[in-house]
Amino acid sequence: MTEHFDPATLRQWWPKPATPRSIVIFGAGSIVGDAHLPAYRNAGFPVLGLYDPNADKARALTETWGIRAFASEDEALAVKDAVFDLATPPATHAAILSKLPFGAAALIQKPMGSNLTAATEILDICRARQLKAAVNFQLRFAPMMLALKDAVERGFLGEIVDFDAWLALATPWGLWPFLKGLPRIEIAMHSIHYLDFIRGLIGNPLGVHAKTIGHPNHDVAQTRTAAILDYGDRLRCVLSVNHDHDFGRKFQACEFRISGTKGAAYVKLGVNLDYPRGEPDELWILPSRWRRMGLRAAARRMVSRCLCQSHGQPAALCHRRRRRPDRLRRGCLADHGAGRSRLSIQRAAGDAACAIAKV
Ligand SMILES: NC(=O)c1ccc[n+]([C@@H]2O[C@H](COP(=O)([O-])OP(=O)(O)OC[C@H]3O[C@@H](n4cnc5c(N)ncnc54)[C@H](O)[C@@H]3O)[C@@H](O)[C@H]2O)c1
Repeated sequence: MTEHFDPATLRQWWPKPATPRSIVIFGAGSIVGDAHLPAYRNAGFPVLGLYDPNADKARALTETWGIRAFASEDEALAVKDAVFDLATPPATHAAILSKLPFGAAALIQKPMGSNLTAATEILDICRARQLKAAVNFQLRFAPMMLALKDAVERGFLGEIVDFDAWLALATPWGLWPFLKGLPRIEIAMHSIHYLDFIRGLIGNPLGVHAKTIGHPNHDVAQTRTAAILDYGDRLRCVLSVNHDHDFGRKFQACEFRISGTKGAAYVKLGVNLDYPRGEPDELWILPSRWRRMGLRAAARRMVSRCLCQSHGQPAALCHRRRRRPDRLRRGCLADHGAGRSRLSIQRAAGDAACAIAKV
């Protein structure tokens, strides 16, 4: 008999390490300021310092966060027993990994290289140097995704027979200058999170049919993907991803529908809508009637602990407004209404970091 469904019992957290190791970050880019450093601070993980060949960027971030800026790559590599956090462009991952101390722990930002050859090289380096490495796929560690996985594993939905991912939105690709001219964008940079999450939830498919294309209005290599993941004859899995639905918020969407033989779930990924301001995430589960899950309440409290990187004071106290999206991304969390969505990214990044910090 299936247990009684009590949403409050769904697990939304990941165990923390008893003795977290020091963290050394490579890269002082936007993801480090927006997500890694806030997540580590919220989780109480010790960040020793960071290295970026762009000394100005490194200085700006280290001053804001009160951490050390390593003067050279060698200085950063010399830290003993650290977790090395590679928040660098994919093309640089292999070179840094090949210099890490033998047996070191590494968290590698996605994607794992720019193509299959680079990913294979990274895998070979990790094996040869016996690195304890993980790729930073935080979506599967997001509170709502942990809750959904728990609900599925506890049988509230029955056998999963359908997974539908539907995105129709406008993604501001210009926020990431390093993407300019890259040959692989949509799947490698974005949908890769969905593919990882789907694999975590329902396992590996037998095969994949996919087509990914660009759009005549811009030169980003691919922004639209249609994919069928082949799970045989009982489970249908489809992704329809369109980052060029730039016609206002009204009919935009970023959502998953998961159906089982006994129930269903609906997920809204708020952060991608009106990025980077974001909207609240939503998770609804139906074993007998639709119920919206309360997602981890710590979010609002954490806002006050996050520093505004533009204005240098606790985000919750900072009311200055900036209009330009590129500024928004690097700017104040509370000011930009990032609230729960952005914080859930940070929490998920923290939980992803837990996975590696425990090694
Ligand atoms: N997991 C996610 O959701 C997510 C989101 C955004 C970005 N990312 C990934 O994070 C990485 C960085 O993205 P970003 O938006 O911060 O990019 P960014 O361009 O803002 O920053 C990259 C930084 O890396 C630095 N760098 C380059 N080579 C280096 C080296 N050898 N050592 C140290 N630093 C070096 C650059 O100077 C730059 O400051 C990318 O791989 C990207 O795909 C992941």
